[in-house]
Amino acid sequence: MSEADAARMEASLTAVADAGIDIRHALFERFFAAFPERRASFMVVDASSRRMTDETLQMMFGLAKGEGWVWPLVAELVFTHRAYGPLPIAEYDAFIDMTVAELGAAAGTTWNGEAAAAWQRHAGALKAMIRRARAEWESAMPVGTPQPAD
Ligand code: HEM
Repeated sequence: MSEADAARMEASLTAVADAGIDIRHALFERFFAAFPERRASFMVVDASSRRMTDETLQMMFGLAKGEGWVWPLVAELVFTHRAYGPLPIAEYDAFIDMTVAELGAAAGTTWNGEAAAAWQRHAGALKAMIRRARAEWESAMPVGTPQPAD
């Protein structure tokens, strides 16, 4: 947990909200440009882009604040996302990096080296948590792997 990071991150979120910028539009354009084959997995981009963007930001901010709800939310996210097909971990990483990049682009003059470093630290923590959740689900409930009879 880092109070200084949380304060810097809150300042970026406030700046983007004050500017009235909804980063999900540019974020999803960028994501689909990088992974065009994924576009078809989304039935309702308008609804999902709101939730995916908000939750990604909240998870990083929550990690900075040491919030205990982040882990169960990440574990649930990784589980429900199994319904969307086998998503390579690189796509999670890219989505998180693009979220931070778009936030930075929208945050104007409040974005500086310290703000970027704070977001990147917690982006890294979120990526690590997603890996851990995937590994735990895989060992608890392997999908598509024939189960040995006991
Ligand atoms: C930290 C990263 C992510 C977060 C927090 C997140 C969060 C969410 C949430 C909250 C929903 C809405 C679920 C619902 O309403 O039932 C959703 C839907 C979805 N997400 Fe993510 N997501 C993330 C990364 C990804 C990535 C990397 C992909 C890769 C393509 C992806 C693909 C999808 C798809 C296909 C849907 C369903 C869309 C639809 O049916 O319209 N997500 N996500």
